[in-house]
This record gives sequence, C-alpha cells and structure tokens, in this order.
Amino acid sequence: MPEADVQLIDVVKEFASPRQDGAVRAVDNVSFDIYDGEFFAMLGPSGCGKTTTLRMIAGFEDTTSGKILIRGREVQNVPPFHRPVNTVFQDYALFPHMTALQNIMFGLEMEGVKRAEARKRAEEALSLVRLPQVADRRPRQLSGGQQQRVALARAIVKRPQVLLLDEPLSALDLKLREAMRYELKAMQKSLGITFIFVTHDQEEALTMADRIAVMDKGKVLQIGSPEEIYEMPTTKFVADFIGETNFINGTFVEAKGQFGVVKIDDQTAIRAVKSSDNMPGGCDCTVAVRPEKLNLFPVSGPVKYPDGSSDTADAYKTALLKDPDIIIITGKIRESVYIGTDTRYRVGVGKDFSHEIIVRVQNYGLRSDTYFDRDDLVNVFFDAENARLLAN
Ligand SMILES: Nc1ncnc2c1ncn2[C@@H]1O[C@H](COP(=O)(O)OP(=O)(O)OP(=O)(O)O)[C@@H](O)[C@H]1O
Ligand SMILES: [Mg+2]
Repeated sequence: MPEADVQLIDVVKEFASPRQDGAVRAVDNVSFDIYDGEFFAMLGPSGCGKTTTLRMIAGFEDTTSGKILIRGREVQNVPPFHRPVNTVFQDYALFPHMTALQNIMFGLEMEGVKRAEARKRAEEALSLVRLPQVADRRPRQLSGGQQQRVALARAIVKRPQVLLLDEPLSALDLKLREAMRYELKAMQKSLGITFIFVTHDQEEALTMADRIAVMDKGKVLQIGSPEEIYEMPTTKFVADFIGETNFINGTFVEAKGQFGVVKIDDQTAIRAVKSSDNMPGGCDCTVAVRPEKLNLFPVSGPVKYPDGSSDTADAYKTALLKDPDIIIITGKIRESVYIGTDTRYRVGVGKDFSHEIIVRVQNYGLRSDTYFDRDDLVNVFFDAENARLLAN
C-alpha cells in the first residue's frame, strides 16, 4: 500500500442551526485514506457535504469531532497556512486589481520567494494551464474559463503536497470542461501532487479520478475505482446516481455462491451478484442492471449474427443457456429509439409486462437486421455477473 497522504477518521461537522433546535450534521462520520499522488474525487449531490469536508482538510473549518491527519500528522490545531495543502475554491476569487501573472506571483512573494524567481515560476504555471498569452491581463479582461485556469495556476505554483479543488471546472462551457478533464489529469500525474477533487458531475469523477468517494447526506456511501463504482455499486443510491440503471424489484429467495436468487414474479426468478451477505430470505430487494448489459433476441424467427449468418431463436437460446450464468426473461417492446451507435428500447418485463426496463443494443451492421418494433415479444438476456443485488 502506498503511504496515506491524507487521513480522515470519523470526522463529523455540525453547524448550529438558527431555526431548528439542535444542529445540522453536514458531515456525518466520514473516514477515508487518500494516498500519495492519488487523484481522489468526492462525488455527490448538492448539499451532501463535499465543500465542508474539503474546508476541514484545508483548515478553514473546525471539525466537531474526529481526526484529520496529513502525512501522519494530526492537523486539527494547525492553521490553514501551515498545512501542506492549497485550495482552488468553488468561487475562485482572483484579485481584481492585479494581472493574471501578479495574481499567481502573489502567494509566492508572500512566502518570501524573490521576485525574479516568483515571476519565472508564475510564467511556468501559466504555460502549464495553457494561458501564457494572458499574463498581463486583469481578471475582468479574462473569460470565466480563463479565470478558473489562472486560479488553478495560482494554486499549483506553490507546489503543495496536496491540492484541494472544489468544482474547479464548473464555470467552463462543456467543450472546454471536457478538454480540461484530460489536461488536469495529465497535469496531476506529471506534477505528482495529490489531488482531492470535489464535483457533483459523475462523468467528471469517472474520467479523472483514481478513486471516487460517493457521498450523500453527509455520509460516504462507497469508495472505489471508477470501474468498481460503476460496475459494482453497493447501494441503490450509488447505482442510481452514476450512469443509467434498471432497477427490478423482487423478493430475495436464497444465496447461491456469489449470487442471490430473486423472484421477480410468480413464474420468474433471476440471479444477481450479492453486495452483502446478510440479506434475510423473503425480504424485498432490488436487482440493478445497466441497460448496455442487457441484450435482446426474438421469441421466434431467425436470429442474425454480426457475421451475417443466422440461427433459429430456439437454437440461439439453447446455445446461450450453455453458460449457466445467462439469465433470459420474456419481454414486450414498448418503444424503440434509434440513436446511431445503439438502439434504446423500453421493454415491459415481469407480470403482464408491467415492469419497464431500458435495454441498449449496439447497432452492428444494418439496423433492419436487429431491430424490434413496438409490441414485439422478445427475450431479454444478460449475464448474472453483470447484475447487482441491492438491499432496499
Ligand atoms: N456555514 C454553514 N452554516 C450552516 N450550515 C452550513 C454551512 N455550510 C454548509 N452548511 C450546510 O451543510 C450542508 C453541506 O454543505 P456543503 O457546502 O458541504 O455541500 P456541497 O456538497 O459542497 O454542496 P454543493 O454541491 O451545492 O456545493 C448543507 O446542508 C449546507 O446547507
Ligand atoms: Mg460545494
């Protein structure tokens, strides 16, 4: 395991509430370790406690209880400017009366770095954020995106061990935001600085982070790599917050190895990978499966393969079922929408086809070869390894 750079242990933050009696718990028992050189994202909806957590790491906010360690040292009593961290705030306030270059140099000069050296480093930082041409402009002569990049340069120039970034891309338009994702990630890896990055944008977290902590209502619900978070969510909230997901309600029957067996109607039982080992038999539960993990073939008639050959639906089904993990359920198409790369179907499954799920089928070859119409009866199939069994 690499060295932990930042550790939060049972951190709680309560704010006094002027209206209600008692307090608002903005951060509720949060614990995690962030490793040296890691790009760590805190992801969650508005108000879930991301900024508050970041401000406690930076030292702008006290903890109500719990511990924060940076490089193994407790920092509760260390003032912000003595912590080896730097912050890019949600509202990156640049000094309006200084040029971009002066804004970046300011912090260095305050630290006693000589003017010539500060200028050289500030110029390097501006090139790093690809803005060498705006050195002599003041903030009001810069676009929002340029201001944000100057704020980033101002933080990077001090070469902190840890850089805290609070939604640093939120003011940028979509195109620039997407381009900046890759630049920021490349910059982080080349500088070797630990990044703690706050966002409510799941795509941003998935594309940039080494690991993501998903938060809701002051709690960390799951920590993992982007792939773990997307493919193996452990709660309904995480499955729902990240990407598109089908939820199929059912009753838990029994565990079978890594799978749980779930009855979704009187006739149909499916299997899904368990996310916990303590689900009592007979309880209500949910199976989560991503639309792109589902596939379709006709109930009767020929099934066409990508190479142009075909088979009968029955032969296709028999071949599929040789894999014991394949689940097939019957469905009825409600709507199909062609979206170029794939076709998105709304399909009714379960009793009276009353439960709707979304299936995304990749369009290989001609659409007419693989296309289903409204009211067509279909077989929906998936690998049980791609379905997750979640507690309600
Ligand atoms: N100074 C404060 N006094 C009282 N309550 C506060 C204070 N700061 C934050 N809160 C509350 O704490 C909770 C968490 O706020 P926080 O700013 O950390 O959320 P966030 O996840 O950063 O949200 P956003 O995505 O909107 O920036 C919210 O309910 C907020 O209203
Ligand atoms: Mg915030």
